[in-house]
Amino acid sequence: MFDKIIKNTIPLSEPEISGNEWKYIKDCLDTGWVSSVGDYVTRFESMVADYVGTRYAIATVNGTAALHVSLIACGIQPDDEVIVPTLTFIAPVNVVKYCGAYPIFMDCNIDTLCMDIQKVVDFINNECKQNNDGYTYNKKTNRRIKAIIPVHIFGHPVDISQLVEICNTNNISIIEDATESLGSEYKGKKTGSFGAAGCFSFNGNKIITTGGGGMIVTNDEYSAKRIRHLTTQAKSDPFEYDHDEIGYNYRLTNIQAAMGVAQMERINEFVGIKRRNAALYRELLGHNDKIEFLWEQPWAKSNFWFYTIRVRQLNKNDLINFLLSKGIQVRPLWKPIHSLQMYRACQAYKIENTDKAYETCINLPCSIGLKQKDIESISSNILKFLT
Ligand SMILES: Cc1ncc(COP(=O)(O)O)c(C=O)c1O
Repeated sequence: MFDKIIKNTIPLSEPEISGNEWKYIKDCLDTGWVSSVGDYVTRFESMVADYVGTRYAIATVNGTAALHVSLIACGIQPDDEVIVPTLTFIAPVNVVKYCGAYPIFMDCNIDTLCMDIQKVVDFINNECKQNNDGYTYNKKTNRRIKAIIPVHIFGHPVDISQLVEICNTNNISIIEDATESLGSEYKGKKTGSFGAAGCFSFNGNKIITTGGGGMIVTNDEYSAKRIRHLTTQAKSDPFEYDHDEIGYNYRLTNIQAAMGVAQMERINEFVGIKRRNAALYRELLGHNDKIEFLWEQPWAKSNFWFYTIRVRQLNKNDLINFLLSKGIQVRPLWKPIHSLQMYRACQAYKIENTDKAYETCINLPCSIGLKQKDIESISSNILKFLT
């Protein structure tokens, strides 16, 4: 459907590697601490915990592993159900299936693109029941709804306080997918710190990167210990090869963590640049009846990991192809997951806004290293197409 990218003069998202990355990685190579134990792993974990405001942080090989092990630690078993957004990168849905559980797809809010919390409340109140054991069950399937995974889409926080309230009342755990939102805040508190666990990704396109990597944050000491145990092959003896359950090799290496420490040293600077660039895009694209630059809600501070525009009265694919032909790398949103063949049979609750968002939204280049002239060129090309 989309033309091949001719030349990417302006890429969608490039990492910013211009701090202490070389120095710290060289230190790992010089000292031989290259594997999954080492000072940088410990430093990286405490830097992220301090920044997000949680008591514990456990580094993982990637964000998907962080989500997977968080679900296991929260007790997700075959035949449980987990509420997930249908508008998201696919990882938080796949991990539900890794556990043998069932996803229930929820619509997005049209302004934030995050899960529509009012619909979650309606679903729990109207389509679920509380049994005598105090847990919440889906009336349709009689399966227990054990958890929900809100995703802070493109860095914009989910409107989370109402979600916390309904989940507390109904004994449903919240695992936050904060993979895209390091640095974002909901009413002054960092995303990732609201749920039983919060998961981050340090994939190459994220606001900070370790090449590949992830982190789980939590305030619960028991969960932190269990997660650390599960991510290190559930080894129960430091010397003997003794394991007390089925574990995973999900630990981040010291080399990757060294890069993470260097990147974390600059997180405030990176969030500042992302936010300034968002404001510049918004100003240049202006108030236009054909497009809207998606902005943050009054209660939100977004890290603006990805920039999104919504088009009206025109086909978004035409604009995508036009921008690609100018060497500007843009992307459509993810296809709504409930429409993908492996998830088509799953329950989806009143999906309306997600289809509209998919039809009308486009992601624009968002690298930290974007220059003012790049943003001017992208914006003027968009405006040229509209006229
Ligand atoms: C919303 C979301 N969840 C999970 C992930 C998975 O993270 P990773 O690629 O580090 O496994 C990503 C991105 O990569 C993501 O965007």
